[in-house]
Amino acid sequence: MSSKIQDNLSSEFDAFSVNYTEDMIDVVPHYEQLIQCFNDYLPSGSNPQKILDLGAGNGNSTAALIRRFPDAHYTFLDASPEMLDICEQRFSGANSERIQSYFSDVDYGIDQYDVILAGFSLHHCKADEKRRLFKRLKRGLTSGGVLAMSDLFISKSDKAHPQLLADWEQFIRTNDPSGEKWLWLKEHYDAFDSPHNFESQKEWLMEAGFSSVEIGWREGYWMHVLAR
Ligand SMILES: C[S@@+](CC[C@H](N)C(=O)[O-])C[C@H]1O[C@@H](n2cnc3c(N)ncnc32)[C@H](O)[C@@H]1O
Repeated sequence: MSSKIQDNLSSEFDAFSVNYTEDMIDVVPHYEQLIQCFNDYLPSGSNPQKILDLGAGNGNSTAALIRRFPDAHYTFLDASPEMLDICEQRFSGANSERIQSYFSDVDYGIDQYDVILAGFSLHHCKADEKRRLFKRLKRGLTSGGVLAMSDLFISKSDKAHPQLLADWEQFIRTNDPSGEKWLWLKEHYDAFDSPHNFESQKEWLMEAGFSSVEIGWREGYWMHVLAR
């Protein structure tokens, strides 16, 4: 992980793809637990035929589900071609397709997906983009479909945010006493990340037509949220 920040999100994640999972475990509290939540909190009785992995990265969210639903069709959507190459190799036998695009440029259609997975990807969207995207994702879901999100749910302007950052720094420095990973994370977070509170996102999701928005699992502001 280099501390040099790339000039746009796609090349930033191309560079990040090299040791992605190892780096995520070191820099994101509860990362493995929050990925496992995609399987553990999927509504019981679910039998999705079409699954969209929104901001798939190297496919860790899909990996939490694919053994349970080996015959489903998986769509990997990401701006980073390097990440999509990893997904393609990792799930080479799966019924899948890749879409290399920014979220805002994709046609999600109507009634297309039974499950949309968003693992640590929506925090890259600013408030307006998130609100517009939630509406388009809702239309893209089948009736009874679910949007599952694992992410950080706190706004940078929240009064608890400075403490979140202090705790986060301590977590990363424990994993990497050199301080290199914290420096990289902070630069990346300042340049690319735009998390929002659960309450705001719940409001935007309801406005988009979801009727239920629930926290499945949380530890502080790190949450797994299901919108239906
Ligand atoms: C932190 S990674 C998460 C990857 C994976 N879902 C996981 O849980 O580990 C975020 C991914 O979303 C992609 N991404 C973020 N914002 C995006 C956008 N607006 N359009 C397309 N891809 C985006 C990045 O390229 C990156 O691969």
